[in-house]
Amino acid sequence: REPGCIAIDGPAGAGKSTIGEHLARRLGYLYCDTGAMYRAVAWLALHEGLDLNDGPALGALAERSEVAISKPQIADGRQYTVTVHGHDITWEIRSPQIGRAVSAISGHPQVRSILIAQQRVIGHQGQIVMVGRDIGSVVMPDADLKIYLTASLQERARRRYLEMLERMGEHNPALPSLQEVMDDVERRDATDKRNMQPAKDAIIIETDNLNIEQVLDMICRYVEGNK
Ligand code: C5P
Repeated sequence: REPGCIAIDGPAGAGKSTIGEHLARRLGYLYCDTGAMYRAVAWLALHEGLDLNDGPALGALAERSEVAISKPQIADGRQYTVTVHGHDITWEIRSPQIGRAVSAISGHPQVRSILIAQQRVIGHQGQIVMVGRDIGSVVMPDADLKIYLTASLQERARRRYLEMLERMGEHNPALPSLQEVMDDVERRDATDKRNMQPAKDAIIIETDNLNIEQVLDMICRYVEGNK
């Protein structure tokens, strides 16, 4: 049986989006990064000056917001383009400011229920790789294959930092230090804990000593085994 939905969950910086995108390309599947949906709501909340503790207002914002995630038309290293009400926020949602706001926002059940419902609609299209925190446990508990990617805090921070360095250049004053990136990842680990349940039937892959190709090959073997 060909898996219709592959769920990839794990903490910040575990490599979910890199692996998810490559895997989707290898299999000819759609790719959906649910973190971008939370980040887009965080962007809107900051933009509109909402109180990050106001769950009902943030839920209402998630409901009326027109977030669109589409295939990229620009070749600047992006995996997809994110727009809100037609405005391109693809790179803005990667800022440390959004990184700090997003965990507070994603902690509100009112926000989660709206985004989870939207994610289920997307997931049920099938032939899709979905990455996030709770895909295998909550969003798509019937996913055909569930992967939980993880790595040590140091390694995850190092990867995030290198990613930003490559994108922003070493002379960019907005480039955070490795320590700042590590603090951010650690803070998000702590606040995301509530919503981070690896599904009981998830395959856990510890990626500290594995490169992208090795992780992809491992997952592909599970996909083959599922057929
Ligand atoms: O994966 P990424 O780091 O872009 O996710 C940003 C934030 O969105 C996470 O720190 C988490 O708070 C939230 N999130 C979530 N559930 C998901 C995906 C992301 O709560 N399925």
